[in-house]
Amino acid sequence: MPDTNSPNAALKADPRLRTYFADEAERRAVTQAMFNQAAAGYDRAENLTALGSGSWYRRDVLRRNGLKAGMTILDIAAGTGLVAVEAQSLIGPQGRLLALDPSPGMLAELASKLKVETIEAYAEAIPLPDDHVDFISMGYALRHVGDIDQAFAEYLRVLRPGGRVCIMEISRPKSRIGQSMMRFHIGVVVPFLARLTGSLADVKLLWEYYGDTIDAAIEPALILDGLRRAGFVDVECSVSLGVFREYLGRKP
Ligand SMILES: C[S@@+](CC[C@H](N)C(=O)[O-])C[C@H]1O[C@@H](n2cnc3c(N)ncnc32)[C@H](O)[C@@H]1O
Repeated sequence: MPDTNSPNAALKADPRLRTYFADEAERRAVTQAMFNQAAAGYDRAENLTALGSGSWYRRDVLRRNGLKAGMTILDIAAGTGLVAVEAQSLIGPQGRLLALDPSPGMLAELASKLKVETIEAYAEAIPLPDDHVDFISMGYALRHVGDIDQAFAEYLRVLRPGGRVCIMEISRPKSRIGQSMMRFHIGVVVPFLARLTGSLADVKLLWEYYGDTIDAAIEPALILDGLRRAGFVDVECSVSLGVFREYLGRKP
């Protein structure tokens, strides 16, 4: 059984994950290789499949949750920059954007389209001083975190007092019909679109993994508990369309 099932892992023990890796060390290596390989095709695949629900949604989440002109934001798991690009336009020229990701391939793709300070690192060990940023965002990557307690402790540490964390993530729909629709989308619609357009070759494995981790991800209540355990206050979660979740918290 993969050792993603440390008590604080963002993924539960799930037999499907065995086909990808055997333990935590292998999980990091395997997923990093997937992300490096998928970097060039990621934006196109994301537009085609809307698994992160698009740039309008990402921007709206940041804006609604208090990202403003002049702020310093750390975008964790920045990938190719789909959250970062929206953040940059909201903070404007007086703001400061830092983008963190462990995948050099993703960071290279991001740097090719956005003027940004990049940090090659994991969420669990952020190489920044205490009380350094006003806002932390993380888009569609929490399930890749091996230890949410370590990550959330780091988020609290680098945020300034009063700073906010905003985590966007897809969760498993509650209703049977919602679950069937999501399975149909990932298992049938996405591969069909991929064949039709001849795209997704580089991201195929990543998208399959994505589908499997939606079922294996820990429940939203455990994510909220983790934020509270770390010391965040005003912790809450809102849901759009039954699947797109925003986990929020404030550093006291
Ligand atoms: C699905 S992409 C999300 C990219 C972007 N945030 C978005 O909204 O599309 C997930 C990213 O998480 C990164 N990642 C994986 N494990 C991570 C970790 N433990 N800490 C920080 N980032 C991680 C990957 O390298 C990848 O670029």
